[in-house]
Amino acid sequence: MAAPWWKSAVIYQIYPRSFADSAPRSDGVAVGDLEGIRRRLDHLVWLGVDALWLSPVYRSPMADFGYDVSDHCDIDPLFGTLDDFDRLLADAHDRGLRVILDWVPNHTSDRHPWFVESRSSRDDPRRHWYVWRDPAPGGGPPNNWRAAFADVPAWTFDEATGQYYLHLFLPEQPDLNWGEPGVVEAMHDVLRFWLDRGVDGFRADVVHAIGKDPALPDDSPEAALLPKSSTNDHHSTHALLRDIRALLDGYPGDRMMVGEVYLLDTAQVATYYGAGDELHLAFNFPPLYTPWDAALWRQRLDEVDRHVTPVGGWPTWVLSNHDNPRHRTRYGSEARARAAAVLLLTLRGTPFLYAGEELGLEDAEVPPERMVDPGGRDGCRAPIPWEPGPAHGWHGEPWLPWPPDPDRRNAATLGHDDGSIVHLYRRLLSARRVSPALSLGHLEVVPSPDGVLAWAREADGDRRTVAVNFTETEQTLTLDGSWEVELSSDGGAGVAWPGRLGPDQAVVLRPA
Ligand code: NOJ
Repeated sequence: MAAPWWKSAVIYQIYPRSFADSAPRSDGVAVGDLEGIRRRLDHLVWLGVDALWLSPVYRSPMADFGYDVSDHCDIDPLFGTLDDFDRLLADAHDRGLRVILDWVPNHTSDRHPWFVESRSSRDDPRRHWYVWRDPAPGGGPPNNWRAAFADVPAWTFDEATGQYYLHLFLPEQPDLNWGEPGVVEAMHDVLRFWLDRGVDGFRADVVHAIGKDPALPDDSPEAALLPKSSTNDHHSTHALLRDIRALLDGYPGDRMMVGEVYLLDTAQVATYYGAGDELHLAFNFPPLYTPWDAALWRQRLDEVDRHVTPVGGWPTWVLSNHDNPRHRTRYGSEARARAAAVLLLTLRGTPFLYAGEELGLEDAEVPPERMVDPGGRDGCRAPIPWEPGPAHGWHGEPWLPWPPDPDRRNAATLGHDDGSIVHLYRRLLSARRVSPALSLGHLEVVPSPDGVLAWAREADGDRRTVAVNFTETEQTLTLDGSWEVELSSDGGAGVAWPGRLGPDQAVVLRPA
């Protein structure tokens, strides 16, 4: 049986506010929209990705820029309409691109009609759709759980009904109670709504958090120093995920769910694959937080091998997203960002690209008066520069400042430069597509000197070796057999493998 599409796919994350806009707005502030994305689909086809993931485009008061949903089955007017969505989906499918949507199951907006009803009275039929508790015996929040973003309790007191409600994120994002059958049914209906419309799957936001200990016990003092959203790991989530999986698998066409399992321990993440009956894919973030260091990356590979592979899970790899500084910024140079692209796109598993990393974008420097995100994540959400100045392909001054050097670092200018980083991404994507070894093959780490990580990939007799020099000095690497450079992070290709790697250089080798 052929592998499902999502195993060999490269998935491209779009943060819709920052990708592309389609028309000027009356307030003059440029914000990306669905039509803007549709008009830029050819960039994704040219690049060679297989699928796009849209961060939330649902109706939202935007307290968390869309991760606070007030209507799961409509598009926020900022982004367009359901018709715009259908057009985008159809055009993406026509081009062979799959589309996955963000699904936010752990919480809604406090303006969602469900929560408005729930907070209206203790007797409301939807009261228990959210997590309400009396104050602790001496007063104050019911337990010591902490919210994300700010060091505050995960509970907000509601004067009118005299109880606290739980929110692992902002007070504007009350947590749903997945112990309530009505919630399960309603959120399943949301999945069906979009699956019926033809989406290829979902990225499920903080999905490890949906099942909670119904006793809501205090965390240990050490655990209580961390946001609860990064530690909640209750067994009840697994049964919920099995039902969600059955729902998705009941549809034709390999619908897929990749879960954001924000537990920074690969062993814990691996449990969310279940026995092949929970998440199709799970994000594993420890690599994203790993510095540019060969020995540490070797450990990350080993952890995946030790925990994900034995449960039959297919790994995922992410270096950048809308919640963290871009890896170009973290690693500090374009040479490293290029070598990291080789790493990301040649490991065993499904890689996720974050829009703009193919341009080598750095985070924007956002002056205090332009900061808007409660979680301090504005820098990585800067708009994509499409063209040289002044508007960079947008219809006004965008909602966030440009990333550095947009006159040079934009899609059009780099697209005309064969040696630029966007061409490296394009070559890597095309090399993956034609090589069963790179897309689906087995991976084995091969011996290499300190500071270098090298691995062999193999499938159906197809073979590649990849080597990454994490140091700033030249390194020698001796390999069995004779190899030629299929591509190199510095642009070289087609030469016999010289047995040496330059500083921060990565190569993909094929048998000579
Ligand atoms: C994780 C999302 O990636 C992040 O952007 C969001 O703020 C939280 N979940 C809450 O939904």
